[in-house]
Amino acid sequence: MPVLFTAVLPKGTLNALRQPVLAIDDQLALRTWRAQDVPAVRAAFDCPRIQRWHPRRMDSDEEAWEWIAGWTRQWQDEIRTSWAITHNDRAVGQIGLRNIDLEQGAAELSYWVLPEARGAGLAARAVEPMTRWCFDAVGFHRLFLKHSTENMASCRVATTAGYVPEGTLRAAMLHVDGLHDAHVHSRLRTDEGNDDGSA
Ligand SMILES: CC(C)(COP(=O)(O)OP(=O)(O)OC[C@H]1O[C@@H](n2cnc3c(N)ncnc32)[C@H](O)[C@@H]1OP(=O)(O)O)[C@@H](O)C(=O)NCCC(=O)NCCS
Repeated sequence: MPVLFTAVLPKGTLNALRQPVLAIDDQLALRTWRAQDVPAVRAAFDCPRIQRWHPRRMDSDEEAWEWIAGWTRQWQDEIRTSWAITHNDRAVGQIGLRNIDLEQGAAELSYWVLPEARGAGLAARAVEPMTRWCFDAVGFHRLFLKHSTENMASCRVATTAGYVPEGTLRAAMLHVDGLHDAHVHSRLRTDEGNDDGSA
């Protein structure tokens, strides 16, 4: 059955683009994942604090490589994307989009930072160039993120990055200890003050 509205973004919008390198500053950047990042990916999936909020386990370097290689297909399928957050080209974190919905022009943010790089506000700094690229280059109109109400570090990241708190979803996120209430934060292209979102 045909829908009665025009999609915000047509199918193929993301696939038509190359995943860019996005600079944060001279040393920090967002880039695609590479084979050399296997140890960083293993370290992330072994980190108890990351596992706490990203409840998956990785058992081998092969799985880490499959995780890395899988991002190309997921970009082509316009489902999910991921960038390595790098310091002097060494992966120290992850930022990406989940639940990409081109029809609605919306996507959900995801991020983690390895313990060695935490404490300097890196995640919030990484959110900024990705948000700009999503609004200006792709044309998304809404980016949002959800975090357990117990994950106060993520709440601070979202707020610092200008993601406005929208409310609480009850028992909305399943973690290893059961269902957690979740805060939702969002940023809209039109939040920047102009109808088209441009500054
Ligand atoms: C969330 C995460 C990416 C933040 O890493 P970071 O960018 O290095 O963040 P910082 O350590 O600099 O802390 C950012 C803010 O959170 C606060 N914070 C950090 N850890 C905290 C904690 N355990 N409890 C409460 N606040 C905390 C800091 O004080 C800082 O606050 P400020 O903005 O007022 O200065 C990192 O903690 C992480 O990878 N966590 C596990 C994965 C995760 O939670 N991902 C998000 C899932 S929704």
